[in-house]
Amino acid sequence: MKLWGGRFSQQTDEMADAFHSSITFDCRLYRHDINGSIAHAQMLGRQGIIPASDAGAIVEALKGIMADIDSGALPIDPRAEDIHTFVETELVARIGDAGRRLHTGRSRNDQVALDMRMYIKDEIDAIDALIKGLLETLLAASRAHVDTIMPGFTHMQKAQPVTLAHYLLAYFQMFKRDHRRLAYCREGADEMPLGAGALAATTYPIDRAYVRDILGFRDITANSIDAVSDRDFCVEFVSCLSMIMMHMSRFCEELVIWSTDAFGFVEISDAFSTGSSIMPQKKNPDMAELIRGKTGRVYGSLMGLLAMLKGLPLAYNKDMQEDKEAVFDAADTVKSCLSVFCGMLGSATFIAANMRKSAQGGYTNATDAADWLVKKGATFRDAHEITGRLVLYAIKRGLPLGELSIDEFKNISEMFDETVYAALSIEACVEARNVPGGPARGAVLREIGEAEAFLCEIGVQL
Ligand code: ARG
Repeated sequence: MKLWGGRFSQQTDEMADAFHSSITFDCRLYRHDINGSIAHAQMLGRQGIIPASDAGAIVEALKGIMADIDSGALPIDPRAEDIHTFVETELVARIGDAGRRLHTGRSRNDQVALDMRMYIKDEIDAIDALIKGLLETLLAASRAHVDTIMPGFTHMQKAQPVTLAHYLLAYFQMFKRDHRRLAYCREGADEMPLGAGALAATTYPIDRAYVRDILGFRDITANSIDAVSDRDFCVEFVSCLSMIMMHMSRFCEELVIWSTDAFGFVEISDAFSTGSSIMPQKKNPDMAELIRGKTGRVYGSLMGLLAMLKGLPLAYNKDMQEDKEAVFDAADTVKSCLSVFCGMLGSATFIAANMRKSAQGGYTNATDAADWLVKKGATFRDAHEITGRLVLYAIKRGLPLGELSIDEFKNISEMFDETVYAALSIEACVEARNVPGGPARGAVLREIGEAEAFLCEIGVQL
């Protein structure tokens, strides 16, 4: 059945019909669509816009339709134009004329905007739950590695020693921001558009606030034209998801590198690795690579949405039907990636001995030698120059700084004395960085305490 046959004297071309149908993907909105319709019908009955008995019949029948789709008793007809058409057709088939009153004062334009907002709010809740789980996993791993010293890098070159806890807490901060962004995005999506009609609202005495309350929205949309043409909440949502993917992807890149023979910083568990069909020795970090790869796909959805919207005049245009697959695919991708990522991270073994050994090489304590000279009165620029010469000399000798003799130190600068050795130990380098946000034990424990307090605040039971 078509919802718009009256004005047409010719059949729609079969190919055109298949082309503009969205049922194969918007079928997943059936619960949101039916709940929206139930609220609309209740409001119509309460306002006396349709007979109360018809409203009651509509609500009961819609509940039955939802239960039947849930149970599989009512398969969604792939020949329907979209989920809105399918539900209404089924409603009329079940209760006749009462069902034909449901669409009073409503358009599919405000209806689909409502469905998408409801869907996105639910997805945000589901994704946020996964983010909370990931934050917990990161916190647990951080607690276990407060004393695991590893090299920090810039330009992928060893830079200064940090601890694995400090490193993991960096990712904690990223996903904490993702949680905040999702909350902000949810607030934007939390406006109820029904009542906007096709674009110019409606002539019936509707009660938008009542529908808002039934459906649990924070507010109603302010402008009917904006309400049906706005997809900012879709762009914001997929933008938040892109950031989540970007953060996971960066971590995955590290896990891929860290699990190489050359690094040996981590062993990804067998449960989250795969083998090779030809090379019997191989254990590959496929999950990490796939998450990295799927990041591009979510970015693609974001770009697709932005490009789809950029030329659209107000108000609704059919182009906007293209919002769905982008939003759905991004949400599905992020949920599966977060689940796998959390499992992979939680079961990975960090190889503390290799991390420590690596931190000890590559002159990661050179800054500390320069800082030692500054504390003896040198300017930082002089200290940098002297230490640069010291490193050059040590490289030629093939020794770490701590293994040069005191005479060798003094040959580079008379300022050096025996106390420099203590400052150059890897533990001392980490411990000396005891400022808020730094890698020293005390600073990391404070950061862990703040992370715990944050998780409590957002309702995570530790
Ligand atoms: N399937 C449509 C969409 O997703 C529903 C809205 C249809 N509105 C219309 N005026 N054709 O955008």
